[in-house]
Amino acid sequence: MINVLFAGCGRISDLHARGYRDNKRARIYGLYDPDQEKAEKKAALWGAEKVFSSYFEALSDPAIDLVEILTPHNLHCTMAGEAARAGKHISLQKPMALTMEEADQIIEAVGKAGVNFRVYENFVYYPPYVKALELIKSGAIGEPLSFNLRVRCGYSPGAWDIPLEAWQWRFNPESGGGCPIMFDHNYHNFSLAIYLLGKVEKVVAWTEETEIIEGSGMTVDVPASVMWKYEQGKAIGMMDVVMAPELLIDSCHYADESRLEITGSSGIIFVNRCTGRLQNRPPLEIYSRGITTAYENIDCSWESSFVLATEDFIDALTEGGKPRLSALDAKNALQLSLAVKQSAASGVTVFLSADKLGE
Ligand SMILES: NC(=O)c1ccc[n+]([C@@H]2O[C@H](COP(=O)([O-])OP(=O)(O)OC[C@H]3O[C@@H](n4cnc5c(N)ncnc54)[C@H](O)[C@@H]3O)[C@@H](O)[C@H]2O)c1
Repeated sequence: MINVLFAGCGRISDLHARGYRDNKRARIYGLYDPDQEKAEKKAALWGAEKVFSSYFEALSDPAIDLVEILTPHNLHCTMAGEAARAGKHISLQKPMALTMEEADQIIEAVGKAGVNFRVYENFVYYPPYVKALELIKSGAIGEPLSFNLRVRCGYSPGAWDIPLEAWQWRFNPESGGGCPIMFDHNYHNFSLAIYLLGKVEKVVAWTEETEIIEGSGMTVDVPASVMWKYEQGKAIGMMDVVMAPELLIDSCHYADESRLEITGSSGIIFVNRCTGRLQNRPPLEIYSRGITTAYENIDCSWESSFVLATEDFIDALTEGGKPRLSALDAKNALQLSLAVKQSAASGVTVFLSADKLGE
C-alpha cells in the first residue's frame, strides 16, 4: 500500500481524492495545508490518518511514500525539491514551475534523489483525447495537418464554487506567473497540443485584457488567439479563447468548455467536449472518405481523467515503467506556455529551440 501525502488541500485536491477512493494499491495517508481547519475537514472526509502541522513534519514521516503537491505554482519548485531531498516520490500539479530555470532545478533534484517524478497533467488521460491519439497513430485521418481548439469560458449554475483565495494567488503574477487564462488553464491545452501532434517550432499569440468583475481590477488575458507551427511535417496549430459571460455551459467543475478539430490529409477528428458540455453531440467523431463515425459511448466524464492519471503513476511506482508524460514532456509544455506569454507581450513570433527562446 502506497502512503500518500496531499500537500495542499484546495479546490483541485477534491478531484485528486477521487483517484484514491477505491484504490487497492494507494491511500491518502496524510494531509498538510497551512489552513489546518481545511486539512482537518478533508482528512475526516477522506479517512486520512494524519494531519500535519508543517510540511517538514510531514516529509520527515517515514511512512509517506508519495507526495502530491497541490499548491500555487510559485511553491512547486521549492516543495518538489524538499520532497525529493526527503526521498519521497513526487506527483506535481501543472505547470511544473514558473520558469525554465525552476523546471531544471526540479529535474536535477529528483534526478539526484533517484525518486520517481511526474507532472500531473490530466488532459492527456481524458478518454476522448486518448482515443484521438490512437486514431491519429493508426493513420485514420492520414497525415495530420492542423490542430484547432476553441475554448469558451461561460457560466454554469452547477459549476464548482471557487473561493476568492483560490483566485487571488492566480491574479498575482508572483504566485500565478501572470496570464491567468493562457498560462494557467491553457497549459493543459498546450500540453495536449504537443501530446497529440508533437513538439512545436514557433508560436505567435495575441491577447486582450478583460475585467472579470466590473471595477475589481482583476483582469484575464482573453480574448486570445494563438497560432503555432509544429516541428515535424506541415502541421499547424490554432487556439482561440473567449469569455462569454452569458453562455450557459453544462459543467459540475469549471464553467468552461473546449472543442477540438484535428484535420488530416484524408479525414477529420472532432472531440466535442471536455470539462463541460455545450451541444448534445457524441464526445468523439471521425469523418473520413465520406463517412462519419460517432463514438457515442466513450467515457467523457472529466473526473475519469483524474482517476486514470492517478492509476498511471501508481502503476509506474508499483510495477516499474514510466508515467505517460516524462519530466521532459512537462518541460516542453511549460516552454510553449512561456513562449505564448512572451509572444503576447512582445507581439513577435517566438521560436522554441532553447537558444532562441528569450530573444
Ligand atoms: N489539473 C487541473 O485541471 C487543475 C485544476 C485546478 C488547479 N490545478 C493546479 O493545482 C494547483 C492548486 O490549485 P487549486 O485550484 O487547488 O488552488 P487552491 O487555491 O484552491 O488551493 C491551493 C491550496 O494550497 C494551500 N497552500 C498554500 N501554501 C501552502 C504550502 N506552503 N503548503 C501546503 N499547502 C499550501 C492553500 O491553503 C490552498 O488550500 C495549481 O498548481 C493549479 O495549477 C490543476
